[in-house]
Amino acid sequence: MESIKAPRGVRDILPDESWKWAFIFGVTRKIAEDFGYREVHLPIFEQTELFSRGIGETTDVVEKEMYTFSDRSGRSLTLRPEATASMVRAYLEHGMASGPQPSKLWCAGPMMRYERPQKGRYRQFWQLDFEAIGSASPLVDVEVIALSLEIFRRLGLSNLEVLINSVGCPSCRPVYRSALQGYLRERFDELCPTCQGRFDRNPLRILDCKVETCRAITDGAPDVRDHLCGECRSHFDEVLQGLDLIGAKFRIDKRLVRGLDYYTKTAYEVLSGDLGAQNAVCGGGRYDNLAEAIGGPHTPGVGFAAGLDRIVLTMEQQGLSFGREPSISVIVVVADEAARDEAVRLLYELRRAGVPSDMDTSGKGVKAQMKAAGAAKACCVCILGSSEVSRGVVALKEMATGSQEEIERERVVERLAAKMKAACC
Ligand code: HAM
Repeated sequence: MESIKAPRGVRDILPDESWKWAFIFGVTRKIAEDFGYREVHLPIFEQTELFSRGIGETTDVVEKEMYTFSDRSGRSLTLRPEATASMVRAYLEHGMASGPQPSKLWCAGPMMRYERPQKGRYRQFWQLDFEAIGSASPLVDVEVIALSLEIFRRLGLSNLEVLINSVGCPSCRPVYRSALQGYLRERFDELCPTCQGRFDRNPLRILDCKVETCRAITDGAPDVRDHLCGECRSHFDEVLQGLDLIGAKFRIDKRLVRGLDYYTKTAYEVLSGDLGAQNAVCGGGRYDNLAEAIGGPHTPGVGFAAGLDRIVLTMEQQGLSFGREPSISVIVVVADEAARDEAVRLLYELRRAGVPSDMDTSGKGVKAQMKAAGAAKACCVCILGSSEVSRGVVALKEMATGSQEEIERERVVERLAAKMKAACC
């Protein structure tokens, strides 16, 4: 029988990589604190309607990419393809509107989409998701964009480009939509089959089609900015001014429409120049009508999600540091069986003192234990044999220099804990 493997497009994040993720979580958590965002743990599945109504029936995510199933009582549930709809649901369900506004929330976790797997695109991927719900102020759009850029800045990422656009609102978008359709109708036959299918249902998506002929056609398409209503136009101007004010660099991209239907006004993406085809490390925008779409009162909101898998790929590509990889500092080596109990005692004293330490449990000889200490990149080994035990000492060997000294058993934990604190271990 063939052994069972993980499903296609789904991967294990093994210890060699998971510590890098922990580093990014640490940086993100601190930034969340600095900007006043509080963490929420959201469910991994929701009622299907939340996403079909929230994200939009004609989006790729809802039409083709959701993992939807019936539970044992016949309810239709869906593994979350994103977190924004869930965050707004949680906001409404828990009456957060009665607290200070906007409610500034964030979460991290896996999202599931049935997409064609390739480098940087998985069927289960992780997002860092930030949402500010309950404010229509353009200053909040600026804050959210600034927060995402701060994550990348603190992680050291370079070669990024911020694209921004306004997708209007329900009062001006239909005007733009028909202007766009009017322009595209003339050249309908030259559009790719996918875009022909989008023409009636979701014509704005034709603007971000990657097919050459479609791009050539849309190069001359009307610009959404020429069709914005007064309110959307001034909102967009204020967002751009705010970004200028804080020194954020961006490029206005009339093709940027985003793939989720809930967006109104601001839409933005951060692209990495080091990722190839799947180059968006972050996407977000404003979604003032999402709460109503899922049955709540009108509640403006704005947020973004950054793709953790892609951040790690970019950081590796750019040779950036993930901090210090956690490793064992001390290995306790048992020189003979008579010293084993004392070695175990020492090991647990070290661990209680916060010194990452380990010892062999398989009865290896001293030489093999020393070799294992080298392989584990321990900085010191504590050697204990019956001679050391009877004399109340421990032989402490520095791995880097090979120097060895005897230390009183009573003082060894304190000494190694101090070494750790001073970060020499
Ligand atoms: P999104 O653009 O669909 O937006 O996803 C945001 C980010 O998640 C992308 O820029 C990318 O880095 C990552 N991502 C998306 N799909 C995959 C995949 N299959 N494999 C790896 N990474 C992926 C949203 O999800 C919105 N909820 C963002 C938002 C929050 N808008 C407002 N608030």
